[in-house]
Amino acid sequence: MQGEGLSTTSGAGQPTTGKISSEARYHAFMAATQEDDQPLRLDAFEARIKPVEEADRSLLHELTVSVFWPHRPHDIDLFISLGQGYLALDEIGRPLCSAMFFPMGEDFAMFGMMATTPRLQAQGAGRRLLRRIMQDCAGRDLRLSATSSGYRLYESAGFEPVATIWQQQGIARPISLPEAVPGLEWRALRQDDQDAIRRLDAHAYGATRTAVLDALFELATGAVVARGGEICGYALMRPFGKGVVIGPVVAEDDPMAMQLVAPLIQQCEGQFTRIDTPQQSQHFRAFLAAAGMGTFDTVTEMRIGPARRSTEGGLIYGLASHSLG
Ligand SMILES: CC(C)(COP(=O)(O)OP(=O)(O)OC[C@H]1O[C@@H](n2cnc3c(N)ncnc32)[C@H](O)[C@@H]1OP(=O)(O)O)[C@@H](O)C(=O)NCCC(=O)NCCS
Repeated sequence: MQGEGLSTTSGAGQPTTGKISSEARYHAFMAATQEDDQPLRLDAFEARIKPVEEADRSLLHELTVSVFWPHRPHDIDLFISLGQGYLALDEIGRPLCSAMFFPMGEDFAMFGMMATTPRLQAQGAGRRLLRRIMQDCAGRDLRLSATSSGYRLYESAGFEPVATIWQQQGIARPISLPEAVPGLEWRALRQDDQDAIRRLDAHAYGATRTAVLDALFELATGAVVARGGEICGYALMRPFGKGVVIGPVVAEDDPMAMQLVAPLIQQCEGQFTRIDTPQQSQHFRAFLAAAGMGTFDTVTEMRIGPARRSTEGGLIYGLASHSLG
């Protein structure tokens, strides 16, 4: 599962660890397990580490609120249903730190929901829980969406920067539909589109995320575009955080992506709407900004293991979420 080669250039202008290879960083990080036999001390607290369970919704929600994430309890439920991980709690059960992973297929996992309560950050909790989930995921290729506060931690664990992910959001404005691409037909999502979407997604995403898509189909509305009757792009849309998130979105290029999502943005008019896009295209972002969804923030996609996303055919234009990719 080790990253191939050495890259010292960060996709988001982050500091890098110079000439130490990602593989050496991974081994040094994972070798520090003697630390993990000791109790986790954070300030005056001795933390207990336990697996995340269904009943932990409010504890995880409390942590996400403490780091100013917009997750609502129903968003936490989705992550708990799809992932595994750990929570560090103090002596009276207050949450101090969390880390989760979302296995997809046999050989891939996304990491997410990593948060330490602000006044206890930089004391080693994140490192301890990250190592636990990396042990659980041994043998899998790994990917995560790193915030600027998490970047150094993930880099020290052997993750390599891949690309910038743009968090576009705001109140959706009235827009007119872009000119339709010749030969491309837009229509609302139907139940019998699911198999075609699963195939398209596996190609674009680079892993089979059956459980994620099944869960999203339950929660989402959306649209597909078809060429000659064959589905070649899709977009899902569901309640998330302060409003609505449009994602995943798979399209072949900017015009297709715009044709796909424009009617969905129209349906969101006046509502808080978000798309997280890994596409570097300024054109697509300019279209989103004109629709009221300017750049709010960026995160850096990082990976251990080979690149997986497709670079031709259907491409990922929108993430399901930072934690799910
Ligand atoms: C990222 C995060 C989970 C790390 O947890 P933590 O318990 O602070 O981690 P550790 O104490 O093990 O620190 C690991 C490294 O991160 C650095 N770090 C911790 N908090 C930081 C912050 N707010 N800004 C910049 N660096 C930070 C530490 O200094 C340490 O680096 P070093 O070893 O070079 O000194 C925590 O900072 C956090 O909750 N941030 C806000 C939410 C977030 O962005 N989560 C990451 C999502 S990908």
